[in-house]
Amino acid sequence: MVTDQLERLNRLPLRTNLRGLRPYGAPQLDVPILLNVNENTHGVPDDVRAAITEAVSAAAAGLNRYPDREFTELREALAEYLGHGLGAENIWAANGSNEVLQQILQAFGGPGRTALSFPPTYSMYPLLASGTDTEYIVGTRADDYGLSAESAARQVRELQPNIVFLCSPNNPTGTGLGPDVVEAVYEAGEASQTIVIVDEAYHEFAHDGTPSALALLPGRERLIISRTMSKAFALAGARLGYMAAAPEVADALRLVRLPYHLSAITQATALAALRHRVALMADVADIKRQRDRIVSELTRLGLKPAASDSNYVFFGGLENPHEVWQRLLDAGVLIRDVGIPGHLRVTAGTETETTAFLETLERILNSHARPRA
Ligand SMILES: Cc1ncc(COP(=O)(O)O)c(C=O)c1O
Repeated sequence: MVTDQLERLNRLPLRTNLRGLRPYGAPQLDVPILLNVNENTHGVPDDVRAAITEAVSAAAAGLNRYPDREFTELREALAEYLGHGLGAENIWAANGSNEVLQQILQAFGGPGRTALSFPPTYSMYPLLASGTDTEYIVGTRADDYGLSAESAARQVRELQPNIVFLCSPNNPTGTGLGPDVVEAVYEAGEASQTIVIVDEAYHEFAHDGTPSALALLPGRERLIISRTMSKAFALAGARLGYMAAAPEVADALRLVRLPYHLSAITQATALAALRHRVALMADVADIKRQRDRIVSELTRLGLKPAASDSNYVFFGGLENPHEVWQRLLDAGVLIRDVGIPGHLRVTAGTETETTAFLETLERILNSHARPRA
């Protein structure tokens, strides 16, 4: 936003906590290789696209009517996909998991309440807090960005937040949290009745055998697992996020959702993709291979990639990350400068995109932006 635009905005009677803010958003640049916002780089497979087109066409015939406000069929399909003995009553969905998180803050946060997360983590958490007038509390991690059960639980006990965000795998670092961390945080939040959100937006990309916090839901009515179809299901453009929790949590979100918030087109699209998930999950397997390839190649180049259970890799060891980011962009490869000294983050691409990224980076490192070590 240009200064003049910002000045005119600030002359409006804006809420105090929005004054001086700029809208959130990674740069949307028109370059050949986009590896900056952790999208699924593999496109929508042909059979899934055909199924979506057919489903949307059928839904179009009924667009004169409001959609199913309860999106029951979609909740049933999502529950079936998640397994873990969940039913439609445990599921809630909205236009992207960002909207689900916003609804959780509307229901359980708000003026006089607090939300805690552990940076570096997903940068929307503070913005969602500010948009709902929830005080945002910055927790701490270890120097290697790890978060132990003991440290997370201690911070929850001390700070007594109304809501805590645990991002697993964490964005931007890519590493997951063990069930021990979730269990300890949940227990530590007993006195303050803290709502514990485990954001599993990238869970499908985790290494085989990695447990989901879904297994911890029975008996924990303050626990919410947030998921999205934006990543593994290659549907970032369709906007469908969802959560699993005790049925009363879904009821709480019904109190704040706008009527008919999930369009009939969105419901039809998500259902079609869920029915055709075999092809989508084959692409997830390929993305995981590219992700592992990035980790091993960056190590060979003398950099320090973090272990990743997601579709992106966070890597350190750069003397001048912004210069490396700019030179990759000049060569047509957009990755993410997350503003952490010495580090950058790259999304796993198709094999061709990943090769282009790795070869361009190697060329840059061999010229003058040397790695630190
Ligand atoms: C950790 C995390 N959670 C949630 C989201 C939101 O995704 P969406 O609103 O597309 O479901 C993202 C998107 O990048 C993310 O990285």
